[in-house]
Amino acid sequence: MTTVTTVKELKVLLADARSEGRSVGLVPTMGALHAGHASLVRRSVSENDVTVVSIFLNPTQFNDKGDLERYPRTVEADCALLQSLGTTIVFTPTVAEVYPVPDTRVFSYSPTDTVMEGAYRPGHFNGVCQVVSKLFDMVEPDRAYFGEKDFQQIAVIRRMVADLSYNIQIVPCPVVREESGLAMSSRNTLLSADERATAAAIYRTLERSRAFASSHSVAETRDYVVRNINSVAGLEVQYFSIVDGDTLADVASWDDAPSVVGCITVFCGATPIRLIDHIRYR
Ligand code: PAF
Repeated sequence: MTTVTTVKELKVLLADARSEGRSVGLVPTMGALHAGHASLVRRSVSENDVTVVSIFLNPTQFNDKGDLERYPRTVEADCALLQSLGTTIVFTPTVAEVYPVPDTRVFSYSPTDTVMEGAYRPGHFNGVCQVVSKLFDMVEPDRAYFGEKDFQQIAVIRRMVADLSYNIQIVPCPVVREESGLAMSSRNTLLSADERATAAAIYRTLERSRAFASSHSVAETRDYVVRNINSVAGLEVQYFSIVDGDTLADVASWDDAPSVVGCITVFCGATPIRLIDHIRYR
């Protein structure tokens, strides 16, 4: 495994790989790696000759400075994990390397990037598109791997790939869960043991709502989820939207779209920590 910090070094390594006809997989991360990231890296290693993992805490996608400051930073442990998984190249650029001049590009894919996280975190997806497009240009991967936990992020990135005609296969990878059902997230380490146990009610409720949904309307199912999660001390739903799994526009009935997904954001604990999850209804 080689660790590089500059685009120049990265391009030299990748030019060598490409001249030998080797395929390249990219796993973009912000570090604080967990089993969810490990599953993306394993998948890339199994499908490509070269796997590049970027570790870059991207400031442009944080609309809340406190969230950026609190974000866990564990680069040494991250590199040890990546080495054990068979990563070829770790790319750990500085902010100045990624943004030598301020990025003023605007990406706009309404409604996909304006609903849910887009509404509650203004500018978030613009920052995600800025950094992911830069990483795509720097690495020029054949495939790029993203966790389905960030369901909306994948939908937005797909729109960007179509918009900018990137010849890159986006590979969505299933959510990895803790034993309790809580979706793995770098932010989980910011929860106390009690808060972590409490947070398990999010997915438990989402799973139960699947059975409930089979005999109730979209509106009733939405109320069921919000009411049950809010009844748990220490949890507060910010939003729960039941949407078309492709466009992310709200649906009014289960038959409105071929794929219907419930997307939730919940505040957990005293700080509080913002947790997201989703469930597929059809
Ligand atoms: O999902 C993440 O960790 C980030 O949004 C990403 C894709 C690495 C871009 O900074």
